[in-house]
Amino acid sequence: MNIFTEQFKKQADEVVARYETKRASLLEILHLVMETYGYVSVEAEEAVADYLKLPPMDVHEVVTFYTLYYRQPKAKTRFNVCRTLSCSLAGSDRLIKHFEEKLGIKAGQKSADGKCGLQAVECLGACEMAPMLQVNDDEYVGGLTKERIDELIKKYMTS
Ligand code: FES
Repeated sequence: MNIFTEQFKKQADEVVARYETKRASLLEILHLVMETYGYVSVEAEEAVADYLKLPPMDVHEVVTFYTLYYRQPKAKTRFNVCRTLSCSLAGSDRLIKHFEEKLGIKAGQKSADGKCGLQAVECLGACEMAPMLQVNDDEYVGGLTKERIDELIKKYMTS
């Protein structure tokens, strides 16, 4: 699939015009891909590299470094548990394990029916509320506990 439709190319050109170099626009172009297509496929990485005149490996490294870029179609409900230092010290490993047991998937996976996904992600920017969880793109839960996880799973997985 050619992601650079006329409409997408127009939007991408507007993004690039705001930056001094094409390379500097990479993160925002990848956001545009996510917004438009829901995830960044390998084909999309190559198309972006071609469009920005960058080596495909440079684009791939950015996409794989930032956990906020999805590399496959997103699950309907996404649980992202922070695993960085403050959250790790506050027990995020134990909480990720709890999620894994409750959802029947490992971190980095989504369920076969696409209803839920679990990821261990880097700092969510609210270390003082560790351990932190992000649900989908806009809900943040601090001071995460096993009990809170059970409530959230019930809330999201039965609705
Ligand atoms: S370390 Fe988890 S939110 Fe910063």
